[in-house]
Amino acid sequence: MSRSAHPAGPRHADVYPEGHYTAPATDLNELDPKVWSRTVTRDADGALTVGGIEVARLAEEFGTPAYFLDESDFRARCRAWSDAFGPDADVFYAGKAFLSRAVVRWLQEEGLNLDVCSGGELATALDAGMPAGRIAFHGNNKTVAEIERAVEAGVGRIVLDSFQEIVRVAHVAQRLGVRQRVQIRVTVGVEAHTHEFIATAHEDQKFGIALADGLAAEAVRRALTLDGIELIGIHSHIGSQIFDMAGFEVSARRVVQLLAEVRDEHGVELPEIDLGGGLGIAYTSEDDPREPHEIAKALSDIVTRECESAGLRTPRISVEPGRAIVGPTAFTLYEVGTIKPLEGLRTYVSVDGGMSDNIRTALYDAEYSVALVSRSSDAEPMLVRVVGKHCESGDIVVKDAFLPSDLAPGDLIAVPATGAYCRSMASNYNHALRPPVVAVRDGEARVIVRRETEEDLLRLDVG
Ligand code: LLP
Repeated sequence: MSRSAHPAGPRHADVYPEGHYTAPATDLNELDPKVWSRTVTRDADGALTVGGIEVARLAEEFGTPAYFLDESDFRARCRAWSDAFGPDADVFYAGKAFLSRAVVRWLQEEGLNLDVCSGGELATALDAGMPAGRIAFHGNNKTVAEIERAVEAGVGRIVLDSFQEIVRVAHVAQRLGVRQRVQIRVTVGVEAHTHEFIATAHEDQKFGIALADGLAAEAVRRALTLDGIELIGIHSHIGSQIFDMAGFEVSARRVVQLLAEVRDEHGVELPEIDLGGGLGIAYTSEDDPREPHEIAKALSDIVTRECESAGLRTPRISVEPGRAIVGPTAFTLYEVGTIKPLEGLRTYVSVDGGMSDNIRTALYDAEYSVALVSRSSDAEPMLVRVVGKHCESGDIVVKDAFLPSDLAPGDLIAVPATGAYCRSMASNYNHALRPPVVAVRDGEARVIVRRETEEDLLRLDVG
């Protein structure tokens, strides 16, 4: 939210210091299509519907808190990415954003590939029938068991993250009598403009092998000498929730420079480059994400130009969007429990979930939007902080937002753009039961990940 100009409406006018908070210029009942999934709308009674189903019905059938995922929006975004990049490029959905068997099937049907980063994600992908050749396996510390599983399954590529891993993967593949296709992940030395925990291309961090000091060139040298692996390309992922294309352009340029060096030294033109994921989405109306076709054009233009000037054949490009595909397709539905107005400060609105279903606010200071969705309201806006039910004051879902001042316990509120890194980072803190993910499409809703039960919790507790 913005923090300028005038305080919120009359209720807060004498409470907030001038120049601190701005009441929203728009009607609180409006649902900004930038932050809500595509089939979300308000019906004639003012209640939110998704995929043609009203939230009150969803809450009744599936309970709260729950994530509702707009399947047709997910599929449309997959298609937008693959159409934008076209047949000469590959789109790998980053499963860490959110993965389930249903998602794996949708990806297959929409022609996308899948990036996994753990044995668990790999198992989910294979179980749901993703052809192994369409899977890329990532991670800065894959275990030997994970590497064996991936090589045995025949994954399309393993992205090597360290000098040790070059040897580990080569040995495993040799032992299994296969030649594993690999890429080397490099850190290109770009400072991406995002939260420090999700920036990954500067040198002082755990991922990848630095281009600086010739380390990446040395990694290529070693990889090319080992029989068990076939080096097919170079990989770079600069970070996450990034809006500025400049970082990707620098990254593409530096990766192409490395390809030119490899050609000059070894006479080999590596056929692929992967520019990672990281494209930002709108969490609030103030965010302005790029469309996939703009991103595709910017990346392919820069790669083509750099390759031309280096006299290289243009490699096949791949990208790995996670958040940009699934993030905007889901919202979390909560029921309001308690409301605590603090005169002169703000109103705390407690919901039936919290940091166990969305850790991003506490972890990255992430901003979210929120709306009253079980009805519309013409009441004055009030400044709220939406908090969870956990035993921790940092348990904040939405730090600063406006909701109608007639908000009452029992109302349903929803936080949009929670499709990425919410269910996948959910925890059982305070023995919370992780919420279900419900896919909604064309008037039908079905659970794709069920709500945890107390039996689930107790099953693990074998003492
Ligand atoms: N490729 C690689 C190698 C990655 O490490 C990641 C994300 C992606 C692709 C997908 O990035 P995306 O397009 O989703 O931004 N938990 C954090 C995000 C961590 C991202 C980790 N890697 C968050 O909630 O913001």
